[in-house]
Amino acid sequence: MAVRLKRGISTPEKVADMVNRNWLFLDFFSSSTKRHTEPQPAKYLRMDDVTGSFIYESSFGVRSSFGAIGAVDVVNRFNTEVYISNIEVHLHGGHHHSSAVTFQCNSWIACNNPDDRRFFFPLKATYSLPYRHHRSIGYKLVTLIIVIEILIVQSSYLPSQTPRGVKNLRKEELKAIRGNGRGERKEWERVYDYDVYNDLGDPDNDPATRRPVLGGRERPYPRRCRTGRRRCRADPSSESPPATADGIYVPRDEAFTERRAGAFATKRALSMLSAFTTARRVSGDRRRSFPSLAAIDALYEDGYKNRPPSSQPEADDVDGYLAGMVQRQVKLLLKGEEEEFKEELRKLFKFQTSEIHDKDKLAWLRDEEFARQTLAGMNPLSIQLEFPIFSKLDEETYGPGDSLITRELIEGQINGVMTAEEREYTVQAVEKKKLFMLDYHDVLLPFVHAVRELDDTTLYASRTLFFLTEEGTLRPIAIELTRPKSPNTPQWRQVFTPAGTSVTASWLWQLAKTHVLAHDTGYHQLVSHWLRTHCCVEPYVIAANRRLSQMHPIYRLLHPHFRFTMEINAQARGMLINANGIIESAFAPGKHCMELSSAVYDKFWRFDMEALPADLIRRGMAIECEDGELELTIEDYPYANDGLLIWDSIKEWVSDYVNHYYQLASDIHMDKELQGWWNEVRTKGHPDKEEGWPELNCHGSLIEVLTTIIWVASGHHAAVNFGQYPYAGYFPNRPTIARRNMPTEGQACSHDGMQPTFVEDPVRVLLDTFPSQYQTTLVLPVLNLLSSHSPGEEYMGTHAESAWMADREVRAAFGRFNERMMRIAETIDRRNRDPERRNRWGPGVVPYVLLKPCYGDPKDMSSVMEMGIPNSISI
Ligand SMILES: [Fe+2]
Repeated sequence: MAVRLKRGISTPEKVADMVNRNWLFLDFFSSSTKRHTEPQPAKYLRMDDVTGSFIYESSFGVRSSFGAIGAVDVVNRFNTEVYISNIEVHLHGGHHHSSAVTFQCNSWIACNNPDDRRFFFPLKATYSLPYRHHRSIGYKLVTLIIVIEILIVQSSYLPSQTPRGVKNLRKEELKAIRGNGRGERKEWERVYDYDVYNDLGDPDNDPATRRPVLGGRERPYPRRCRTGRRRCRADPSSESPPATADGIYVPRDEAFTERRAGAFATKRALSMLSAFTTARRVSGDRRRSFPSLAAIDALYEDGYKNRPPSSQPEADDVDGYLAGMVQRQVKLLLKGEEEEFKEELRKLFKFQTSEIHDKDKLAWLRDEEFARQTLAGMNPLSIQLEFPIFSKLDEETYGPGDSLITRELIEGQINGVMTAEEREYTVQAVEKKKLFMLDYHDVLLPFVHAVRELDDTTLYASRTLFFLTEEGTLRPIAIELTRPKSPNTPQWRQVFTPAGTSVTASWLWQLAKTHVLAHDTGYHQLVSHWLRTHCCVEPYVIAANRRLSQMHPIYRLLHPHFRFTMEINAQARGMLINANGIIESAFAPGKHCMELSSAVYDKFWRFDMEALPADLIRRGMAIECEDGELELTIEDYPYANDGLLIWDSIKEWVSDYVNHYYQLASDIHMDKELQGWWNEVRTKGHPDKEEGWPELNCHGSLIEVLTTIIWVASGHHAAVNFGQYPYAGYFPNRPTIARRNMPTEGQACSHDGMQPTFVEDPVRVLLDTFPSQYQTTLVLPVLNLLSSHSPGEEYMGTHAESAWMADREVRAAFGRFNERMMRIAETIDRRNRDPERRNRWGPGVVPYVLLKPCYGDPKDMSSVMEMGIPNSISI
């Protein structure tokens, strides 16, 4: 048995105490009868040099009639919690390295808590045939029997197949995990329960941080893990904040392992540090823009040594406060710190340039790159086929539902940049499905007035139209920005086009693009990333733990894909999505960010549309042919090209797995735990959504549901998570917010329809529209943190889970999964070298590797994007 203590409390005294007295007791249960061995103490044997675990040993004698081992009960009477890695049972006289029964526990066990009995069920079991008069079945035997043959028996059981001896234990264990729904949860508990998002503000301390409850009829939302803290006095619908931002309860075994927590805490501390120091330095002037484009580039220069000379040292010089502050603070902070920490700190303040900027300094300005990133960037999930354009919003409230981007305007734009020969091809572009759109009209318009009341920001609704060229690339042809009418002002809307013939039109296009990029970056963070992956997956995790036993094969299939998701979501509630947190402070639409994600969940989210093929079909990016194959509307769509390979590969693995454990459709239908899980996902985890949930009544629907969940937790998340710093690290390429109205809107315009400041200094208007210096220094370290892979990351298709390896057929199926994933990696490499695929190959073009399977290479930390697809959402 391998045991660990928390690093922080592994003092010599504690270790000596742990080694010298009896405190760990084991009790084995028979799988076929109600017998158990009676608790026996385990004694310290040795230290495992490789893992650093303490190995404990205990001897048991049982009669032959005891039968196979079905469970173990572990009691911790030490004075602190301990981590149990695994328990192995060896036959007396058997080979030391080959266990007869293996328990993979990986669990913290609280101390002196008789109410919380801990049962573990075996992963692998080899049993002797129970011949009489033979020797040694034993776990150090009393009865002498001879083992003449060893059988390997499966140890994942559907509820109906549960061995008689552990039926009650299976139920008891689940009951303990569900808890009673009362009281505040303590750090050491392992209770999984649901609650609404009512813990983002701190109205008792600051009334301005009061936020609406997300979850319920008014603002539908997935549920989070219940923590049970007291309600706020100032707002009884809100839960009071935790004592510390990282002190939010999650069930004990959901917490990061120490290795992962160490790295994460370091990085998180650094990002907070950066935010704090910057905020302190610029307090009172969080609105300050960058003084020049050169000053933005200076942010990324090594140690700010190459920063441009300042003409106005006090007011507008980026090094005036940033570089000086950073250097002083870093020196101060480095005192007494370890080398690893120092290196992290240096990296953090260096703001490394992203690959996209390294390869092509002008990429952020190019229309072609703007369009390419809708197919192969960090948010390839918004582009859709759409024409004609209309709004579903109420015309009475929001104005006309049509668009100023008319057929005539489109044809004018396309013809303007095409040869005569191509014109024939483009005239019927509408009919030929050549027009695509980023549609942030209906989703943003209801928030425009509220956002415009916030300090130092603005908002429009936007529609951006793209045309598919004969080369298979997209070209932006029009952006429409809209502000709805209000009691005092009429509706304002205007279309901007790139093919203008004047400098004015060119500048206006650049500014309009900045607004659209801010919309897309905000939507990416709040919807494609947070809502659709982190937030929607949490209820699947909670329900799985409450309803599926550890010995259930579907629990064992899903568990690796759920690892650490609840923990990272709790961290996000503490420092990212909370009121006045980093997301609200720096992303469009400011303090309404979370409400926006609720509105999207309400209107657009459906479980069955989260499957990659269904998502592509819904957006018009693919059609399903008669033979069931998908045909992509844009052939060279890197996210879809690679994603579909991954999707198919997951589906085959899930099919093999499901078919192995369920012989008949009725086995699925009659599986009480499985049905209980799915029912709870729908009615308790996502109770505000009634539509879009398949019934689990046959192999096909179960495979589709599981594939969807695994895809969202792995491929979908990797595609939107690990490209954040690589694409948005150079922020002009992906500004998180746009702070100024278009210079053609408003009363400040002179007779030519322009604001005079724009005519005098258009660069200044662009810099003022970009995020402020404060927002930039807040966001960059966080994007860096979020794009990082963790030490010990488990990659999909390459990390072999012990539970899967314990079964011969499942092991073989996983082997095939692994081979497929490695072939996909080679295919992706080939695609990235193919000159015909212009959306992922070309001069200065960053190859698309966000969905490339990989074993992970912790030695090469320079290329975050090459690291592979983690099994679960853990960052
Ligand atoms: Fe993430």
